[in-house]
Amino acid sequence: MPIKYVPLYKDPIKGQAILDNFTRTKRVLKYGKNEEVYDHINRGMPYYELEENEIVGNDKDTKNLLVRGECISTCAYLKDKGIEVDLVYIDPPFASGMDYSKKVYIRKNPKLLDKIKKKEEKLKDEELQSFDEKMYGDIWNKEMYLNWMYDNLMAIKSIMSDNASIYVHLDHHICHYVKILLDEIFGEENFVNEIIWSYRSGGASKSEALPQKHDVIFLYKNGDENVINNKIERQYLDKPFMDTKIDKDGKYYVDTILRDVFEGAPYIMNENKLEQYNMRPVLNLSKERLDYDTQKPEGLLKILIEIASNEGMVVADFFGGSGVTAKVANDLKRNFISCDVGINSIQTTRDRLVSENANFKIMDIKDGVNLYRNPIQTMDKLKHLINGLNDDNTLDSFWMGSIKDSKKGKIPVYVPNLIDSSTRVLDLHIIDEIMKIYMQNLDNVEKVIVYYIDIEDEEKIKKYIKDNNNTGIEIELRDLKVILSQTIIDDKVDYLSFDNKEDSRKKYGIEIKRFISDRLSNKISEYNQKGFLNQEKKKDTDNKKEFKPIIISEEGLELIEYISLDCTNKQGKWQSDEEIKISKEGYVITNGKKTKTFWNGKITSSKKPLRMKVRNIAGDEVVLQIEN
Ligand SMILES: C[S@@+](CC[C@H](N)C(=O)[O-])C[C@H]1O[C@@H](n2cnc3c(N)ncnc32)[C@H](O)[C@@H]1O
Repeated sequence: MPIKYVPLYKDPIKGQAILDNFTRTKRVLKYGKNEEVYDHINRGMPYYELEENEIVGNDKDTKNLLVRGECISTCAYLKDKGIEVDLVYIDPPFASGMDYSKKVYIRKNPKLLDKIKKKEEKLKDEELQSFDEKMYGDIWNKEMYLNWMYDNLMAIKSIMSDNASIYVHLDHHICHYVKILLDEIFGEENFVNEIIWSYRSGGASKSEALPQKHDVIFLYKNGDENVINNKIERQYLDKPFMDTKIDKDGKYYVDTILRDVFEGAPYIMNENKLEQYNMRPVLNLSKERLDYDTQKPEGLLKILIEIASNEGMVVADFFGGSGVTAKVANDLKRNFISCDVGINSIQTTRDRLVSENANFKIMDIKDGVNLYRNPIQTMDKLKHLINGLNDDNTLDSFWMGSIKDSKKGKIPVYVPNLIDSSTRVLDLHIIDEIMKIYMQNLDNVEKVIVYYIDIEDEEKIKKYIKDNNNTGIEIELRDLKVILSQTIIDDKVDYLSFDNKEDSRKKYGIEIKRFISDRLSNKISEYNQKGFLNQEKKKDTDNKKEFKPIIISEEGLELIEYISLDCTNKQGKWQSDEEIKISKEGYVITNGKKTKTFWNGKITSSKKPLRMKVRNIAGDEVVLQIEN
């Protein structure tokens, strides 16, 4: 349950046309669920309990925040604390109709180190063994998406300073609809630019259409003041040419005036001279890749942040992903706030910022959406966890499926869509919709089960059901959190503490002897089974490539991605006094710095470790007290 609701801003409804405009003007885009959105706005943003998990860096008073939680919950926190932001960049789900996943790479087994060393050459990504884990889902119906987006944009506006501005990064799937929402929320007169970012590779191509090679970034201001403070883009060149200048470090550059089309082409399209020019930085994602689908290039963010903010300002990204906004804001001496619902995003961003020696706090909002890694994996998991639940295509897709009960017969089951935060709190609107629409079409059903993550007021809802349920069908309310929390089994770590004689500065050591992860073992056996099945299916075709199953050693150390030692606190906030990350090729990254040493199964520290955190390759973390 939220602790309270935080008002968006004073009189959010009055004077704001909100969604009424759409129905009033009878535009083709007609809004359903107007009242529900209206109610959310009036009610305010749900404020949840939160935990400060870790402070990274030496600056204990840092304003930089990395928050695991939903955009709206994060805004509720900021609003409650009176924190305002000066520039927002969001790159939310685009309603692209796709699920995005992360490649999870199996690391090297340190017990086979000698063999590995003989093959010192760097392995290419394709030679590494990996499987995919879903990271976030982007499948929406348009109306649901726009209602959700409206809630999010209203929340964001409520924490923007008077002279702040906002970039909203989208593409052809939904940008034109969102432009209308933005006009409603920020005012048509506050629209500044539609920026086209045109990229070279990627993008979908339909046979009947021209290749789609651009995204759209809308810029709006929140107040009257001009928000673009710099229209010059500096591009560095390898060699001097025409009007190049030289900076104090002896590098050649040209200053060009930015236009609203950011093309991924060289500065001058002179075929003979083409090779002389660096590509615009916006194109250079290849060196920055962090295996995070939908990651945007630092060069793009650099331009956007530079033109609309100054040093010392607060730059926020509420759909942080790989943390590109936070990284670039930090490079440009801005403060940053980054949030995301997915555990992989938070870890990727954290590790990225650690390598930059950034100072920041990590907070976890207990908003219930990130129950298991991320909303989409939680949804998938739920299907298996609800006892007896089966797909049922005789029912509307509103129901997740049904349970067969010996006494009551078929029981349809509703589970909120965790991707859409607006369905998270079970309120009178949702119950009303269930009773008045979805239960009306049920034949031969005596009972339904309605799961919730949060409930507005259980007694009130039960009374409402009693007074208004005319279907004759019983409704059982159930808490989702209960089933999820009971079934997650932590990874197990066997370790040995030792005195490190090899390095007098790092006298303490821990050697991991064994690592067991039920979640990963299940995932890997699923992957292997599928692989063999597919191979069997392709037996008679030309494509007879042999499937190589993933085999994990007895010790299981190749399933570890990261280890951190807290030598300061026995409990509470985490302090990472020593940490190593193991790159996908098996090399050690020590306190954010890459090395060329393969991991040997150990971690050493200068102070005595009190706690150890171990993260597996899919992002699950377990914390152990170190006993001596
Ligand atoms: C397109 S990606 C962002 C990519 C990012 N700009 C980058 O360059 O890496 C969208 C992100 O939004 C996150 N997300 C989805 N719904 C969210 C919500 N309600 N609140 C916060 N983050 C959310 C997803 O987990 C995903 O990481």
